[in-house]
Amino acid sequence: ELSPIDTAKFVAARRAADMVQSGMRVGLGTGSTAAWLVRCLAEAVRERDLHFRGVPTSTRTAEMARDLGLEVITLEEAGWLDITIDGADEFDGELNLIKGGGGALLHEKIVASASDRMVVIADAAKEVESLGAFPLPVEVIPFGWKATQTLIDEALTAMDVMGKTIELRPGADGPYRTDEGNLILDLKLTRIGNPRQLAMVLNQVPGVVENGLFVDICDQVVIGHADGRVTLRD
Ligand code: A5P
Repeated sequence: ELSPIDTAKFVAARRAADMVQSGMRVGLGTGSTAAWLVRCLAEAVRERDLHFRGVPTSTRTAEMARDLGLEVITLEEAGWLDITIDGADEFDGELNLIKGGGGALLHEKIVASASDRMVVIADAAKEVESLGAFPLPVEVIPFGWKATQTLIDEALTAMDVMGKTIELRPGADGPYRTDEGNLILDLKLTRIGNPRQLAMVLNQVPGVVENGLFVDICDQVVIGHADGRVTLRD
């Protein structure tokens, strides 16, 4: 018996798994909703004789996919992807996203951008009027990260972003490390007026590798509801 939130995640993942056809190269997202997708795809391989190759966006997803018997390849081996299916922390009416709550934003953005289509799977609570209640993750290289933090703070002030705090994401043993060995700064901003501009400004700061704003990348959101309904946004 699934909890209401897991029901919502599961039905969204199941609908998106139906979009995967044999022969496709598929980007596999990261997080608890993407984990449902991997399970649904493994079931489709067994039940409807689906053949596809997956490019995981994290070591976590790669391990899970292999454990369930899915064929895992690198993005280089794939060359390009037919579709990427991933979760999100927030999405707005223009299908802009905040991602990276699970720390995989860099690989997620590369994989999604190298795909003909990106489909987000999410429970209905992730839909927002404007992005920003969820802390915005920014991946920075370890060298000089405090200076990078100061420069980000100055850039936000210059953009009139109010009420901001910037926190180094903690891990189990010292700071959290991404799959690339980098650090994550979580930006608590409350409301992001102009996601496109903020994404560009952040990526201009030396030491910033990538930020969790996905602008003009997502093509469709599959929204799962606790009562088992699924609605689509595109
Ligand atoms: C991973 O880095 C994130 O971008 C996830 O896609 C996001 O955190 C959603 O995770 P859940 O599906 O667990 O909410």
